Amino acid sequence: MLDRLKALHAQALDELSKVDSLRELELWRVCHLGKKSTLTRILRSLATLPAEERPGMGTRANEIKRALESSLTEKEESLQRASLASPLESQRLDVTLPGRPFATGRLHPTTKILDEICDVFRNMGFQTIEGPEVEWDYYNFEALNIPQHHPARDMFATLWIDTGIGGKARLLRTHTSPMQIRFMERERPPVRIIAPGRVYRYEATDATHESIYHNVEGLAVDKNITMADLKGVLFQFCRCLFGEDRKVRFRCDYFPFVEPGVEVAIGCSVCDGVGCRLCGYSGWIEALGAGMVHPDVLARVGIEPEVYTGFAFGVGVERMSMLRYGVDDIRLFYGNDLRFLEQF
Ligand code: DAH
Repeated sequence: MLDRLKALHAQALDELSKVDSLRELELWRVCHLGKKSTLTRILRSLATLPAEERPGMGTRANEIKRALESSLTEKEESLQRASLASPLESQRLDVTLPGRPFATGRLHPTTKILDEICDVFRNMGFQTIEGPEVEWDYYNFEALNIPQHHPARDMFATLWIDTGIGGKARLLRTHTSPMQIRFMERERPPVRIIAPGRVYRYEATDATHESIYHNVEGLAVDKNITMADLKGVLFQFCRCLFGEDRKVRFRCDYFPFVEPGVEVAIGCSVCDGVGCRLCGYSGWIEALGAGMVHPDVLARVGIEPEVYTGFAFGVGVERMSMLRYGVDDIRLFYGNDLRFLEQF
């Protein structure tokens, strides 16, 4: 009987060593420790043994049972550990690897200078307004003293959307000046506004011409506004953008919607006024157009030119950026080359 128990124990351990899944382990348990197992049957039959054999056999059989039970627990734990370890191994994450850097966004250089320009004028009391990029001929031209067949239309190579008659044609605005009319149609003086926005030209592009760029239009209308106010505001603007010491020049120019019209130029930053290729050997770089609002423009929107006067100006935004940062090709702004954009 004792030898049988020994053999039983040895066989059970041998089989256990071959078990390599929890399912097989359960089968092993039923076979060696279950109700119908040989060991259980032996334990049940102890009562039928002669009284002198009973204690020895009982002790031995119970020892083997406990031994098998603890082997079972051990095996179970080691199988569980193994079943956890293999996915941990295959899904291993190396937390010491340096992370991939995020590409951080930034404002486009045009947005930046546009914000800056608007800030300068806001500090001088100008309110910012916006309007449509698809515009009527009336606002873009007619109301600004540029009727059909007026030669000044040649100044604005226009992208037409359709061909209506008498100001009813639609186009992509060639400047933000139409916002003067849109604003004065509904508001009475005093007026102090700027209108930033995108403008379009039907133009072959080169280093200084783009078909899409930005304008900031400015307008002030009130009693007793003079050319001195215009000069003061634009000098201040040029100083804010290009520095206190920058020279600023006013000269006559022609725009149909102002009288007199002026061209504002700043001293060339490359040659400091001596003359170089950038400034065409003049020492000056044209920065913006401006003038005193034409009386006919005021009258057309119902503002009495005998009572009110005003000034207006138009700033080319990319042009300001080029002068400020020494960018020599306007096409870079819409070129989407990160090597350019990341420098701002
Ligand atoms: N709108 C003109 C342009 O884009 C610029 C301009 C010139 C605007 C004179 C004005 C002005 O308001 O008075 O060429």
